[in-house]
Amino acid sequence: MRRRDLLRSALALPGVWLAKRLPGQTSPAAAGGEAICFPKGFLWGASTSAYQIEGAVRADGRGESIWDRFSHTPGVTKNGATGDIACDSYHRYRDDVALLRALNLSAYRFSIAWPRIQPSGQGAPNQKGLDYYRRLVDALLKAGIQPLPTLYHWDIPLALIEAGGWPNRDTAGRFTDYAAIMGRTLGDRVKHWAIFNEPKAATHYGYLPQHTEPCGNDALKHLRASHTINLAQGQAFAALKSMATAIQASSVFDLSPMFPATDSEADRAAAERFHRFQNLWYIKPALEGRYPEGVVPAERLPELLGFRDGDERLMRAELDYIGINYYSRYFVHHAPLANGVPGLDVRPVWGARDAKERTDFGWEVYPQGLYEIIATMHRETGGKHVLHVTENGAAYNNPPHADGRIRDLKKIDFLRAHLGALARATGDGYPVRSYYCWSLLDNFEWLQGYTQRFGLVYVDFENGQKRTIKESGRWYARVAGTNQLI
Ligand code: GCO
Repeated sequence: MRRRDLLRSALALPGVWLAKRLPGQTSPAAAGGEAICFPKGFLWGASTSAYQIEGAVRADGRGESIWDRFSHTPGVTKNGATGDIACDSYHRYRDDVALLRALNLSAYRFSIAWPRIQPSGQGAPNQKGLDYYRRLVDALLKAGIQPLPTLYHWDIPLALIEAGGWPNRDTAGRFTDYAAIMGRTLGDRVKHWAIFNEPKAATHYGYLPQHTEPCGNDALKHLRASHTINLAQGQAFAALKSMATAIQASSVFDLSPMFPATDSEADRAAAERFHRFQNLWYIKPALEGRYPEGVVPAERLPELLGFRDGDERLMRAELDYIGINYYSRYFVHHAPLANGVPGLDVRPVWGARDAKERTDFGWEVYPQGLYEIIATMHRETGGKHVLHVTENGAAYNNPPHADGRIRDLKKIDFLRAHLGALARATGDGYPVRSYYCWSLLDNFEWLQGYTQRFGLVYVDFENGQKRTIKESGRWYARVAGTNQLI
């Protein structure tokens, strides 16, 4: 929980999210007791990421990633867990595609492990790595499931970390080469792409003081890493789009409604600053070629971010959609020099202290935040972009009953409440086109190892990786199969 407390620190003025109901829209959630229909063609999916599920870390020429190294560092993860085997999805991907079908899902978001494609982060691609993702994509397409590959879900090749990692501007070029390789390999059959997963989380986790993982604590490095990622996003976007006109590309962002910790003027301003830093830092550079104002002083961008003339063009990308990963909200305190980022001065707290409901992970259950962040992002991006909810979910750690069933009923309540908020958003006219539950499988939850189970499907890691659809999975399958919330 600590990681998220620190990581998902963002800010929330009530005024930040309240958007007007669009003209002529009524809310289906008002229907009370009746089934709530989602828009025709709405896509239902599940999300995973490579290091969290694939295992097979030494198979077929895969190189070492930062997370291989980091998870093997003593004392870092719960029970010393690593992703060495994880869900062994690398070998069991056919079973996992069959599970997606059994859940009536029409879309699957997975990530591509960069070290499988370029073991040292540069140079000619590893054919066996390319073949694996081609096989996976073909299996999905054959099953009628739309693939949404994410190019980067935090597993940068270790060799690139040794060359300076994300704070080194050259990494943007390496990443663009990798994006072009994947575009050439899969661009004929994959239309929808996510470039980065949660760039904010990657850089916060990676570099900010008070985070222990995995690249050292240094606010300046963090800012430089964020700029390299923005450069990489813009250039990878251009590379992907040049492959085929049909390609739709963007990134998926960890977004949260922000609330001031108190009603004070200082906390309200802190909440607004943190909103810009947490929610907009990787979106405004793409859409407008500039960083959000009022966080890092503009005149210090060259010194602090390594911003150069012309970078405003390199960062630009007319993102085809906005990917929203939503879990909960932040309360933000004004706290001078709290995190080493000049001008930020915030101390964000993940979730309400007196939360009525929490997941087994301890995160506040705050379903209306999904509506709020959809409304906020629609407004912040000028109402021009379609939205996809690319992650939402919760860890409830119910073990199997004697009959083998996993009765994770609180997870059903969680999903029902969040899908209710989502239905209210689509009913109010917000252009949300899909929902991906995190996650298909119980998997390697970073520092928490295997102790937090986010899956719709239970994985018995001790007994041959047996997969069992949980009650929440059955419930979600009914929603996906009927396109209705009952
Ligand atoms: C993230 C990642 C996922 C997590 C999930 C639950 O948001 O941190 O995209 O890898 O596992 O969010 O914490």
